[in-house]
Amino acid sequence: MPTPRDKRRVTIVPGGPMLVEGPVELVLDDGTVVESDRFVVAVCACRRSKRFPFCDTSHRARRR
Ligand code: FES
Repeated sequence: MPTPRDKRRVTIVPGGPMLVEGPVELVLDDGTVVESDRFVVAVCACRRSKRFPFCDTSHRARRR
């Protein structure tokens, strides 16, 4: 289990999510803390996800 000071890799996908090595705790702007124990967590960077803060691939939808 990594300690809080271990480096974590974050991969930014152009036009898509940020892939963060898990497990993670995400603190939202209202102070809510969301946890994920997944090996890699896709964090939504476009704010279109219905599962925000997690990516649900809505970033792929084309806008008219
Ligand atoms: S980055 Fe995938 S839904 Fe926002």
